[in-house]
Amino acid sequence: MEVDSQAVDKRGDRVRAMFASIAGRYDLLNHLLSLNIDKSWRTFTIKKLAPTAGQRILDVCTGTGDLALGFAARVPKVEVIGLDFCPEMLEVARQKNAKATAKVLQFGDGDATQLPVESNAFDIVTCAFGLRNVSDTERGIDEMIRVAKVGGKVGILEFSKPRVPILRWCYLAYFKYLLPRIGQQVSGNDHGAYEYLPASVLAFPDGPVMVELLTSRGLRDVVAYPLTLGIATLYVGSKSTPKERR
Ligand SMILES: C[S@@+](CC[C@H](N)C(=O)[O-])C[C@H]1O[C@@H](n2cnc3c(N)ncnc32)[C@H](O)[C@@H]1O
Repeated sequence: MEVDSQAVDKRGDRVRAMFASIAGRYDLLNHLLSLNIDKSWRTFTIKKLAPTAGQRILDVCTGTGDLALGFAARVPKVEVIGLDFCPEMLEVARQKNAKATAKVLQFGDGDATQLPVESNAFDIVTCAFGLRNVSDTERGIDEMIRVAKVGGKVGILEFSKPRVPILRWCYLAYFKYLLPRIGQQVSGNDHGAYEYLPASVLAFPDGPVMVELLTSRGLRDVVAYPLTLGIATLYVGSKSTPKERR
């Protein structure tokens, strides 16, 4: 299946405008297009990262905040911060936070390629369905690793391509032909967000390639957990020591 390079134009302004235009319906579309399975992927992510009370957690590309809010809701006394560079997505996150019983400490402005936080500060750093959209993938990974404590966990949840050929074919057909039409109808989006989605997934590294990439940037013990027949994958690794990185 070919990748339309125009559709994967990841310049920051373009990506921000695209998410701004769908922010109001992002949650609805997420749950609709994934048949609600995205909720279980985030729950799995939280379980695998196993936060404990008192830990500091940073969720990068937090969007409307589902993963950050999930951490706050499931673990008592954790300090969760969610950062994103799209004000409209953050506004939805803040509205949800206002209604939540367990609160995220802060939903703030922050570019994944230049995180406005100190180094070695967080026990857990996550990014769900965000890294694929970041203009410079390596830079985004490096920033997540920089702000994690040595030994801290980095978790990346991202779409991937099923490995079994027949499944892969069905999935790509849905992704490439059906999903953009449903997405466009429901969101009324004119920035091509639901053409961009499959194109960006097809062009993004996954499986062993992603494990290799994360290891080469400074994570150790990286494990890939394929979810729902490999439609999504959670990658978890720990920040290695400076000596291990040399
Ligand atoms: C598909 S949404 C994912 C939102 C959320 N993490 C989730 O699981 O639903 C991708 C988000 O990444 C954000 N994003 C993309 N590039 C970014 C960057 N360079 N810095 C910060 N946020 C970015 C977008 O604004 C958008 O909110």
